[in-house]
Amino acid sequence: MLFATTIFFALLACGSFALPAHSSTPHLHAHSRYEVDSNWDQGAVNQYPIHASCNHTETTQLRKALAELEALAEHAAAHVLRWGNSSEIYRKYFGDAPSAPVIGNFERVVNGDKARTLFRCDDPDGNCQIPTYGGHWRGENGTDETVICPRSYATRRPLSQVCALGYNVAEWPTNTYFASDLLHRVYHMPAISEWYVDHYTEDYQEVIEMAQHNNSYSVHDSDTLQYFALEAYAHDIVVPGTGCPGPASSASSGTSSVAPAMSSSASASSTSAAPMSSTASSAMSSMTSAPATPVQQYASSTLSIPPGCHTHANGELHCE
Ligand SMILES: *[C@@H]1O[C@H](CO)[C@@H](O)[C@H](O)[C@H]1NC(C)=O
Ligand SMILES: *[C@@H]1O[C@H](CO)[C@@H](O)[C@H](O)[C@H]1NC(C)=O
Ligand SMILES: *[C@@H]1O[C@H](CO)[C@@H](O)[C@H](O)[C@H]1NC(C)=O
Ligand SMILES: *[C@@H]1O[C@H](CO)[C@@H](O)[C@H](O)[C@H]1NC(C)=O
Repeated sequence: MLFATTIFFALLACGSFALPAHSSTPHLHAHSRYEVDSNWDQGAVNQYPIHASCNHTETTQLRKALAELEALAEHAAAHVLRWGNSSEIYRKYFGDAPSAPVIGNFERVVNGDKARTLFRCDDPDGNCQIPTYGGHWRGENGTDETVICPRSYATRRPLSQVCALGYNVAEWPTNTYFASDLLHRVYHMPAISEWYVDHYTEDYQEVIEMAQHNNSYSVHDSDTLQYFALEAYAHDIVVPGTGCPGPASSASSGTSSVAPAMSSSASASSTSAAPMSSTASSAMSSMTSAPATPVQQYASSTLSIPPGCHTHANGELHCE
C-alpha cells in the first residue's frame, strides 16, 4: 500500500499521471449542489414514445430509425456550429441567413422534450391503405401523433446506405432513408416544430432557389432542413470530404475560399440516376393549403385527399 502510494505520487510528480484538472474547483462543487437539490426536469420525456400498436419487429426498427434520426439531426447542428456560413453546404441551403434558427430546429429534434410526440403503427385513419403511404401525421385527429405504415418498415433505408445504391442528395427523395423521413415526420408534430417548421418548398430546385432569394424561410422549411442534414451527413461522415451531392443545381452558387465543404465533384456526377422524375414534382403546384391538385401517384388511387392535407411529388400525404 505504501509502495503503491509512493508510485502514485512519483507519477504525479513526473506529470505522467494527472488528476482531472477540475476535480477540486469550487465552481463545480457548487454546481453539483444545485443538481442534487433542484430536480428541475422531473418528468422529462427524453425518448420518442412508441405506441403499443407497434409489434416487436416494428418497434425494433423504429427504435433504430429514431436513433438514426437523432444522429442525423445532431450532426447537422454540429456542422452548423462548427462552420456557420463559411460552409458551402450551409450557404447552398440557407444562403447568408443567421444560423441560430437552423441549429435550434435540429437541436429540438434531439434534445426537445418528447412528451407530446407519439409514433403508432395501427392505422386509425385508414391512410395506410393508400399504396404509396409510408406514414402520415394525424393532423386534426391527433396533433401529437404520427402513424408509420407497414410500407416504411419494408422500404426505408438505413443511414449506412447513404451515397450507396445510386443515391445522391439532389436527385433522390429525402424519404429514401428512414432517418430523414422521420425528420420530416417529427417536424409535423408541434412539440418539435412549434408550428414554425413547415412546408414552403416542393422540390430540390425550389429549396436551392429559396436559399438565394428568400432564406428567412429556408431556415424553417422542412425540406430544406432534410436536404441539408443529408448532405452534411454524407459529406462529413459517409464519404468524408466528398459526400454525394448529385449534379450541381443551375441555380447554385458558392465561391468562398474558406469553405470546408467542396462541391467541385458535383458537376461530374451522373444526371441519369434519379428514381423520381423531376417532371412529377414540377407537376405539383399546390402547397400546404391547396389539396385540390393531385400528383400522378396519388391520382391513381381511388381515395381523395383529406381536408388540410396535400401530397408531395413522391405521392406522400402530408397533413398540416
Ligand atoms: C456570414 O455571416 C456573417 C455574419 O455572421 C455575414 O456578415 C456574412 O456576410 C456572411 N457571409 C456569407 C458569405 O454569407
Ligand atoms: C409486425 O408488423 C409487420 C408489418 O409492419 C409485419 O410484416 C411483421 O410480420 C410483424 N411482426 C411480428 C413479429 O408480428
Ligand atoms: C418567401 O417564401 C414565402 C413562403 O413560401 C412566401 O410566402 C413569400 O412570398 C416569399 N417571398 C419572396 C420575396 O419570394
Ligand atoms: C381524420 O379522421 C377522419 C374520420 O375518420 C378521416 O376522414 C380523415 O381523413 C382523418 N384525417 C387525417 C389527416 O387522416
